[in-house]
Amino acid sequence: MTRYLTGIQSSGQPHLGNILGAIEPAIRFSQHVSGEFMYFIADFHSLTTIKDAEVRRQNTLSVAACWLAFGFDTDKHTLFCQSHRPEVTELTWYLGCFTPYPMLANAHSFKDKSDRLADVNAGLFYYPVLMAADILLYNINVVPIGKDQVQHLEIARDIASSINHIYQQDIFVLPEPSVDKNVMIIPGTDGQKMSKSYNNTIDIFQEEKPLRKTIMSIKTDSTPLEEPKDPDTCTVYKLFTLLADEGQTAEMRNNYLQGNYGYGTAKQSLYELITSKFQQERLLFHQLMANPKKLDDILKAGALKAKPIAEATLSRIKKATGF
Ligand code: ADP
Ligand code: TRP
Repeated sequence: MTRYLTGIQSSGQPHLGNILGAIEPAIRFSQHVSGEFMYFIADFHSLTTIKDAEVRRQNTLSVAACWLAFGFDTDKHTLFCQSHRPEVTELTWYLGCFTPYPMLANAHSFKDKSDRLADVNAGLFYYPVLMAADILLYNINVVPIGKDQVQHLEIARDIASSINHIYQQDIFVLPEPSVDKNVMIIPGTDGQKMSKSYNNTIDIFQEEKPLRKTIMSIKTDSTPLEEPKDPDTCTVYKLFTLLADEGQTAEMRNNYLQGNYGYGTAKQSLYELITSKFQQERLLFHQLMANPKKLDDILKAGALKAKPIAEATLSRIKKATGF
């Protein structure tokens, strides 16, 4: 059976961009494709940027609650927290000793991050080796990822095939990337790509009042109320179409084109659509967040399911290298 794995860092509260661009499609995929799915929260990865223990714990819980609120089936599949399987850090060391230094020095993601971040630590540099360990530890066949992660997957494949070659054994399964070309880029409140690094996110789990305030802060142009407006350049309309059905979209489009329709009214409709469409997910998310013990138990059960595979892989590499 094909085994799939993907991870999402616990470096912030999950936002609408993460949900529509990664979490919802991944859950739909796990419901419609036969195979075994392992989804995990990459909390060790987030230590490269987040040093505050409480912030990281809250982020980890909220990413887990988000996966569950959107319907990830933990009876059929596995949801776990990266750090709950410590074999991953041990494997990282073995892999690192077979990773040519220039391969890491040339990674785009390290170059991008080291240009942007004040804290350029060795963890950031070593990140692709930890990511390779995430994948190789669990004998993964397919890794659904965004375009920006393809190079990391190539690194994982290179390390795995070089070790298999040196020891003339199938120690690691070679993973394939799966890049969904149809994934949309969700715009943030300023019209750029929604990202926690740009401070333009919409947190659909916020309480109603602050959520409404965020929606009202979406940047629009200064076309006067009476005049017709261009829906195709407007972020409010774009976000609305991502969530609305055809009839609702056509109605808003018509309102824009006719004039006498203000951005405030469009924003109010977007706010109402978000709260009604995600009513159940919002409720479930808050119930889960109010019960961290239950969330911890779900994550621990996931890590326990992942344990035998992790132990077997680690024992293969230890045996081959003579430890
Ligand atoms: P951020 O940019 O907020 O730091 P991450 O890089 O942690 O988000 O992304 C986690 C996942 O969510 C990735 O799979 C990424 O491709 C997806 N994602 C993030 N922002 C968006 C967006 N604006 N549109 C579509 N997908 C997104
Ligand atoms: N590096 C990925 C990101 O920033 C997250 C991640 C960590 C991951 N380990 C992984 C994704 C293993 C897929 C497989 O989005």
